Amino acid sequence: MALAQTDNRAQAATATPATADTALWHSQAFMPRVRSHERVIVKGEGAYVWDEQGNRLLDGPAALWYCNVGHGRAELAQVAAAQMEQLAAYSNFQQIATRPAIELAERLVEIAPVDDAKVFLGSGGSDVVDFAAKLARRTWQVRGRPEKVTLVTRRQSYHGLHGYGTAIAGLEPNRLGFGPLLDDTARVANTDAEALAALIAERGADTIAAFYCEPVMGTGGVILPPDGYLQRVEEICRENEIVFIVDEVITGFGRTGATFASDRFGITPDIMLMAKGITSGYLPLGAAVVSRDLWEPFWAPDSELIFHHGITYSGHATACAVALANLDILEREELVARVAELEPLLEAALRPLESHPLVNEVRTGVGLLGAVEPVEPGLGDRIAAECVERGLLMRTITNGALQVSPPFVVSDGDVEFIGVTLAEALDAVAADRI
Ligand SMILES: Cc1ncc(COP(=O)(O)O)c(C=O)c1O
Repeated sequence: MALAQTDNRAQAATATPATADTALWHSQAFMPRVRSHERVIVKGEGAYVWDEQGNRLLDGPAALWYCNVGHGRAELAQVAAAQMEQLAAYSNFQQIATRPAIELAERLVEIAPVDDAKVFLGSGGSDVVDFAAKLARRTWQVRGRPEKVTLVTRRQSYHGLHGYGTAIAGLEPNRLGFGPLLDDTARVANTDAEALAALIAERGADTIAAFYCEPVMGTGGVILPPDGYLQRVEEICRENEIVFIVDEVITGFGRTGATFASDRFGITPDIMLMAKGITSGYLPLGAAVVSRDLWEPFWAPDSELIFHHGITYSGHATACAVALANLDILEREELVARVAELEPLLEAALRPLESHPLVNEVRTGVGLLGAVEPVEPGLGDRIAAECVERGLLMRTITNGALQVSPPFVVSDGDVEFIGVTLAEALDAVAADRI
């Protein structure tokens, strides 16, 4: 059974420098090769990073889709230092809280298109994916409908790799090979809203708790929603009393050229999940923004319920202070509008690659998001390696597609450079194959 997300031998072909055997177990990595071929990143400034060999590389994926405001922001370091000197962290279990956590929750309620919301904070995306699963299932228990338990996702979806995230994964390599996971999950076709309706008809709405949906599927390959898809799945969820969980871990905070993809596509989540761009990765943080219907049973003055969930670093004061400062930068520098401005440039840079004989498909046209999928998954890492040789850091996602999601501070020229470099890298791999 092939469990690797990209071809193992292809990862082995990536031209990274020979290094000493490492003690670090890399994520989603083919360790026999990586253990002595790490690329060590030592510095970042704006849209660029430097590796230990001194190579300056344009950050094509913004690390893991997160460094939205760019690297090396002294302002964020200063905010973190000031908060740490005053109070680095304190828990928010029971009645305790910190001011940055409270202020961040208020700010998210203000900007997120979720009705009359409250906010749960975690340390990253997977944390809040699991929170949402538990809240959706607990909600139906509380409402006296304990049979509504199934969590539905889309094929090729990625919702992190914690317990629930693994069980609901649409990318099979992330789900298979661990023995029994949560039974009550289901996957539907990823761009056909009627597939969700058909699943509900087959299983009964009274068995389904929630539907998770990335507005633009990220790790699955930058799969864009067909016109009307998102609105229709929201409608189906409403008609069938299914909690509509919108995972904006990648798309949140400007990546699609709107503050949230939900704004761009005109949808209203019951629970909106955020991470990554919330701090631009300067510190780990995740957030779930919850609509009134779902928080009220636990918050009403006459409620006797506790939602039994929480993690040590929920609402970490320094992470929250940095998130607030990161949101200030986004606003002050009008970076979301800048993403909208760059969208056609990125499309113009990537679209011509579609005619290259080694390219199966180019997906772009929403914000600073794109993927160039090769005709064979195994080619992806070779193309990425050729890009690195030419000063463009790239990584592969599903089917060996090259992920394009640079920091919002790229120049017009940087965006052109991405297209030109990918074209050269494709030519180099094609020449090598002859
Ligand atoms: C859509 C989506 N949801 C959830 C996650 C999980 O976030 P984290 O890796 O911070 O736990 C990711 C991570 O890439 C993601 O892309």
